[in-house]
Amino acid sequence: MCMCVKSIISVACLASKFDIMHGNSLVHSLAAGILVATPLATAFYTDHKRSSTARPAIQPFPYNTGYASFTSLARDANKTCVVAAPANASVDAASTILAAFETCNNGGTVILDAEYTIASRLDLTFLQSVDVAITGTINFADDIDYWTSPEGAFSITYQNSSTFWKIGGTDVNIYGNSVGVINGNGETWWEAAQSNDTLVRPILFVADGLEGATISGLNYVNPPNWFNLIANSTDVTVSNLNLSAVWSTGAEAPNTDGWDIYKSDSVVVQDSNVNNGDDCVSFKPNSTNIVVQNLICNGSHGVSVGSLGQYVDEYDIVENVTVYNISMSNASDGARIKVWPGIESSEGALLDGGGGSGYVKNVTYDLLVNYDNTWAIEVNQCYGQSNTTLCELYPSKMTISEIWFNNFTGTTSSSKEPYVGTLVCSSTSQCWDIYASDITVKPPNGAAPEWTCSGFNTSGLEGFDCVASA
Ligand SMILES: *[C@@H]1O[C@H](CO)[C@@H](O)[C@H](O)[C@H]1NC(C)=O
Ligand SMILES: *[C@@H]1O[C@H](CO)[C@@H](O)[C@H](O)[C@H]1NC(C)=O
Ligand SMILES: *[C@@H]1O[C@H](CO)[C@@H](O)[C@H](O)[C@H]1NC(C)=O
Ligand SMILES: *[C@@H]1O[C@H](CO)[C@@H](O)[C@H](O)[C@H]1NC(C)=O
Ligand SMILES: *[C@@H]1O[C@H](CO)[C@@H](O)[C@H](O)[C@H]1NC(C)=O
Ligand SMILES: *[C@@H]1O[C@H](CO)[C@@H](O)[C@H](O)[C@H]1NC(C)=O
Ligand SMILES: *[C@@H]1O[C@H](CO)[C@@H](O)[C@H](O)[C@H]1NC(C)=O
Ligand SMILES: *[C@@H]1O[C@H](CO)[C@@H](O)[C@H](O)[C@H]1NC(C)=O
Ligand SMILES: *[C@@H]1O[C@H](CO)[C@@H](O)[C@H](O)[C@H]1NC(C)=O
Ligand SMILES: *[C@@H]1O[C@H](CO)[C@@H](O)[C@H](O)[C@H]1NC(C)=O
Ligand SMILES: *[C@@H]1O[C@H](CO)[C@@H](O)[C@H](O)[C@H]1NC(C)=O
Ligand SMILES: *[C@@H]1O[C@H](CO)[C@@H](O)[C@H](O)[C@H]1NC(C)=O
Repeated sequence: MCMCVKSIISVACLASKFDIMHGNSLVHSLAAGILVATPLATAFYTDHKRSSTARPAIQPFPYNTGYASFTSLARDANKTCVVAAPANASVDAASTILAAFETCNNGGTVILDAEYTIASRLDLTFLQSVDVAITGTINFADDIDYWTSPEGAFSITYQNSSTFWKIGGTDVNIYGNSVGVINGNGETWWEAAQSNDTLVRPILFVADGLEGATISGLNYVNPPNWFNLIANSTDVTVSNLNLSAVWSTGAEAPNTDGWDIYKSDSVVVQDSNVNNGDDCVSFKPNSTNIVVQNLICNGSHGVSVGSLGQYVDEYDIVENVTVYNISMSNASDGARIKVWPGIESSEGALLDGGGGSGYVKNVTYDLLVNYDNTWAIEVNQCYGQSNTTLCELYPSKMTISEIWFNNFTGTTSSSKEPYVGTLVCSSTSQCWDIYASDITVKPPNGAAPEWTCSGFNTSGLEGFDCVASA
C-alpha cells in the first residue's frame, strides 16, 4: 500500500504532462487515495469544492514586527500532491497525508481539498519550502482513549497539554482561502473534562519550530483545548482566520484560547474573528516582538499577557508587543496582564503555580473598543491566588514596566459598575512606567467611571479616578 502510494505520488510529481495551474487544473482519483493532476475536465470534480488552491499574498498591516519577513522560494508547479477524498471520510487519513508531505516537501504543494479524519498523531515538523492548501475539512477523531494513551497525542510539557499534530520547518505557507476547516470536535472533550480535571486535552494547531511561515484563510472549530500554540517559532504571520468554539450546552467552552505564543519571536496575528471561552490571544513565556492587530474577539478573557511566573526557577520574558485595533465583546477583560505571586500555591489542578521570575516590558495596547466586558483593563500580580495576604507577603517576582494603554472606548458590563478596570501590583518595585491616555470607557449606568489602581505610581494614568480597592 505504502509503496503503491509513493510510486503514484512520484508519477504525479515528476511526469511533466501533469502541469498544475493554481486551482484551475483538475484531479482524478486513484485507488490508493492520492490524486494526480490532469488538465481541466469537470467530470472528475465531483468530490471537490473547486475552490482556488492558489497561495494568497499575506502581509502584516498596518504594523509589522520590525524584522524582515522571510521570502518563499519559488514552488515547482509540477510538484503537487493532492490527497484524495477517502472512500470513507471517517477512516484515519494520517498516513496518507504524511506520505503527501514527504513527497511534495522541498519545493512543492500539498492540497487537502476533501474531507479527512485524522485519528492518529501526525508529526509534520520536517517541512521545508512547502505550500499547504487546506481547502477541504480536517476533522480530528474524538477518540479520548487513543489520544490520551502514551502512543496517542504528542505531549507538551508547558501547562501539561498535548497535540494531535505538530507543524514545524522553514518557509511554509498554510492557507484555506476562506473555505478550509479544521475541526477539533471539542465538545466530547469539554464534557469529559467536567468529570476529570486532569484530562489532558489536545491543542488544535501547534506550530513547533516554525521559521518563516504564513497561516491564513482557515476556519477552526471547537478545539478540545487551545486553538493555537505557536512555540519555538520565529517570523510567523497569521491572518484571516475564523476561530469558533461554541458548546451546545450554552456553557463557556473551557480553555479555548485563540492563540498562545510561547518561546517565539517576531509573530503577527491579524485580521481574524474569534468566538471562544478563554483568552483571545495570550503572550506566554518568552514572547518577543509580537504584533496583534485587527481582531474581533467575542466571549473571551481578553488579549492577555500571561499568565507568567507560573513555574519556580523559570525566567519569563514578554517584550516588545503591539496590540492594535481590537473589538472586544462579552469578555472578562479587554487588555489584561496577569502574573503569578512570588510563591507556589495551588487552587486546583488547572490553577497551580507561582514563584517564577522575569519581566513584562514595552507592551502597547492601542485602540480597543469594549462591548460588555467586565474590565476594560486588568493588571494583576496575584494571578491564580485568591489569598491577597499571601501575595502581599510574597510579591510577584515578575516585573511589569513600560506599558501603554491608549484609545480605549466603549462600555463595560454592569457587573462591577461604576468600576471599569483594575490595575493592582504587588509593590512599586515590581511595577513602574504604566501609562494610559484617551481612555473613555464608561460603565453602562452612565456613572463616572472608577478604577482600582494600587501598588505602583499611578500618575501616568491620564484622567483615571483611582481608588485603592473597589
Ligand atoms: C512542468 O511541466 C511543464 C509541462 O511539461 C514543463 O513545461 C515545465 O517546464 C515544468 N516545470 C518545472 C518547474 O519543472
Ligand atoms: C467508515 O469508517 C468508520 C470508522 O472506521 C466505520 O465506523 C464506518 O462503519 C465506516 N463506514 C462505512 C460505510 O464503511
Ligand atoms: C502538571 O503535571 C505535573 C506532573 O504530573 C504536576 O506536578 C503539575 O501540578 C501539573 N500542572 C501544571 C499546571 O503544570
Ligand atoms: C470568516 O467569517 C466571515 C464572516 O462570516 C467571512 O466573511 C469570512 O470569509 C470568513 N473567513 C474565513 C477564513 O473563512
Ligand atoms: C483523567 O484523564 C487522564 C488522561 O488525560 C487519565 O490519565 C486519568 O486516568 C483520568 N482520570 C479519570 C478519573 O478518569
Ligand atoms: C520547544 O522547545 C523546547 C526546548 O527548548 C522543548 O522542550 C519543547 O518540547 C518544544 N516544544 C514545545 C511545544 O514546547
Ligand atoms: C458572543 O458571545 C456571547 C457570550 O459568550 C454569545 O452569547 C454570543 O452568541 C456570541 N456572539 C456571536 C456572534 O458568536
Ligand atoms: C526566556 O529567555 C531567557 C533569555 O534568553 C532565558 O534565560 C529563559 O530561560 C527563557 N525562558 C523560557 C521559559 O524559555
Ligand atoms: C517597543 O516595542 C516596539 C514594537 O512593539 C518597538 O518599535 C520599540 O522600539 C520598542 N521600544 C523600546 C524602547 O524598546
Ligand atoms: C525590543 O525592541 C528594542 C528596540 O527595537 C530592541 O533593542 C530589543 O532588542 C527588543 N527586545 C527583544 C527581546 O527582542
Ligand atoms: C493566606 O496566606 C497567608 C500567608 O501564607 C496565610 O497565613 C493565611 O492562612 C492564608 N489564608 C487563607 C484563608 O488561606
Ligand atoms: C482613536 O482611534 C480612532 C479610530 O481609529 C481614531 O479616529 C482616533 O484618532 C484615535 N484617538 C487617539 C487619541 O489616538
